Amino acid sequence: MRLSLRFVLPLLLVLAAIAYALAPLVDRLTLRWFVRDIEIRAALIANTIHEPLLEQLAAGKKAKTSEFFNRISQDERLYAIGYCATPQSPILASRTLPAEVSCGKLLRWKAPGEQLLSGAKGLLHVAVVPVNTDTAPQATADTTAAATTTLTPTAEAGQLVLVHDMSFITRRSEETKRYLFYVFMALAAAVSLITVVVAQLSWRGWMAGMQALLRGEGLVRRPEVSPGSNLPGFKPIARDLQRLIKELESENRARDESQLTWSPDTLRTILHGELRGEDVIVVSNREPYIHQRKGDKVEVQRPASGLVTALEPIMRACSGTWIAHGSGSADQEVVDKQDRIAVPPDNPAYQIRRVWLTPEEEAGYYYGFANEGLWPLCHIAHVRPIFRSGDWAQYVAVNRKFAQAVIKESKTRNPIVLVQDYHFALLPKMIRDELPEATIISFWHIPWPNPESFAICPWREEILAGMLGSSIMGFHTQFHCNNFVDTVDRFLEARVDRESFDVSFGSKMTAVRRYPISIEWPPEPALLQKSVPECRSDIRSRNDLPQEHKLGIGVDRLDYTKGILERFRSIERLLELNPAWIGRFTFVQIAAPTRSSIDEYQHHEAQVRALAARINARFDRRGPPPILLKVEQHATPQVYEYFRAADLCFVSSLHDGMNLVAKEFVAARDDERGVLILSEFTGAARELPESLVVNPYDSDQCAAALHLALSMPDLEQRDRMRLMRGLVAEFNVFRWAGRMLLDAATKRRRSRLVVKPERAIR
Ligand code: G6P
Repeated sequence: MRLSLRFVLPLLLVLAAIAYALAPLVDRLTLRWFVRDIEIRAALIANTIHEPLLEQLAAGKKAKTSEFFNRISQDERLYAIGYCATPQSPILASRTLPAEVSCGKLLRWKAPGEQLLSGAKGLLHVAVVPVNTDTAPQATADTTAAATTTLTPTAEAGQLVLVHDMSFITRRSEETKRYLFYVFMALAAAVSLITVVVAQLSWRGWMAGMQALLRGEGLVRRPEVSPGSNLPGFKPIARDLQRLIKELESENRARDESQLTWSPDTLRTILHGELRGEDVIVVSNREPYIHQRKGDKVEVQRPASGLVTALEPIMRACSGTWIAHGSGSADQEVVDKQDRIAVPPDNPAYQIRRVWLTPEEEAGYYYGFANEGLWPLCHIAHVRPIFRSGDWAQYVAVNRKFAQAVIKESKTRNPIVLVQDYHFALLPKMIRDELPEATIISFWHIPWPNPESFAICPWREEILAGMLGSSIMGFHTQFHCNNFVDTVDRFLEARVDRESFDVSFGSKMTAVRRYPISIEWPPEPALLQKSVPECRSDIRSRNDLPQEHKLGIGVDRLDYTKGILERFRSIERLLELNPAWIGRFTFVQIAAPTRSSIDEYQHHEAQVRALAARINARFDRRGPPPILLKVEQHATPQVYEYFRAADLCFVSSLHDGMNLVAKEFVAARDDERGVLILSEFTGAARELPESLVVNPYDSDQCAAALHLALSMPDLEQRDRMRLMRGLVAEFNVFRWAGRMLLDAATKRRRSRLVVKPERAIR
């Protein structure tokens, strides 16, 4: 309202000023019209009275003529009338003719502009008309005098003088000015009203649009307030605005994120606030709890899987359902009729829904296509991928089986489904086909290769199309996002937006985003309960090592991508270059058996065992062995005990999406001691530059790093560890999941509200 007044008042003033400036012009114009009318009227009167006047003059009836003139001058406009025959004769006139008009003056009068009447200028108009016996009066306008018009006299004729009352002109002029003023005011009011209404509507529409964009809803279809927002002319503005809003949004979120302490509660708040408490469905191949039969007992195992390490705390916080392959020997015994079991066993918080696979399915889908095909395809570890069409067929079938499980488990038509890893590249599209409104967040836990490497997969198009069924496709690093987008660009008819990293394929949009995965922070208190000195002492005693013995630790699945052979060679090189460490340093390698039915893994295990044995044999003579290889699964508390007991942790992956062991080591060291040696080919190296970053293929460099770590002063250890702990604390796994859920929430809101401008235009 205030805005309207601010606009209307100046407009009214401007229009009033214009009306004021126009008034004299109007005056002049109307005067000209009226004078012209009076002249015509004067000529008309002269013509009309010409005949009777001549008759009366001829009859010498002067009194009758005066009476005649009195009658005529009763006309409202004709003020007076008079006649002179000669300059000497007395004037014959109506009573109203001013006395100053004499025949001498009248007949002498020649020049236009000369005044016959001295006063009443502008109120009386005088017309002088020659009268002779045979001619009618001829009128000529005199424009110099405002109130006097001359009609050309002839010398030999008498003169008729007609005085008109001009006061009506002034009255009319005043009236005209008043009307003009009212018209302008009405015009101003109308213009103001229309302008204000249009401005209000546009403003409201604009504001609604802005608010919608700020809420992340894009351009909103609200025909009642913003009919213009879908006009073609608005499209570039809308696009720019959307881009700006996106930047603001991400800045805002970054700011908000940094202000949050990311915990299970934060995640729950997001889930119940942003996503209105909707259930989350997680799908992964590996299950978080495996039930194994051991004699007459059933044991619960936790698998060695970074994926499980990251997702389990998320599910504990959010509840929901985790669909996974039931791979334990007692898995079927413990589930209910719907193949579900509540976990964690001691404090149930969510459901595992188990999917059963036949041995053929497991062989083709899991061992074959996923782990002999995609795994080596995505890791640069120089192991050739093997692609068999039989494996592919099982991979397709198992993905379909899981898709059906998702559809069965979803309580609504638009569930939030978190699809995990390379086992389920086809699943997003299969779910999307059945539940078009689902929000599907896929996360690829391993690296994504460049287009040339990926090209060797015979089903590359199907895999990419399957993944693009996702609403969000997540990777650990921007580098992997870039590779993925390049690959899509190379092999699919998709529209790739390099600025926003959105891929549009088959009318669906997938956001390709970086979400560096992490671990639970703070770690469960039980894991840190035993003090570091106790851990140091117990681990050394248990492994027959002297108390002051230096200890290194490596914890991995026995996988060729982990660089365990390269690690052992570096240890060997250390001992070659710095023999002083022989007998004073032992490296404990915990290697969890994995995918053991695959030849490559069996071969790798044999190589690892052989190398450890050879190195140990080479340096055996002088005290404890340099390498203690433990090919067995260790529970998390045992692993943490080793982390706390060690002087260094060596992560030498040849290629790794993230590597959570590095972050777990940092989390375990609340004493701010211990050195992390980290392969530059892990995602973690980008986040933990305070570690000693190495190239695992360069054994000399790794040996130097080992030596540096073993001799690093306490203070430097503390400084490095403190920084790394700060990072893991800030970017914990709740933040990883929270960011994805926030993005999912934004997408869900948009999908409810956004109408593509081109569709709205007919
Ligand atoms: C990697 C994969 C996970 C997998 C884990 C363990 O971290 O990204 O998806 O669960 O290895 O492998 P496994 O084959 O034993 O599940």
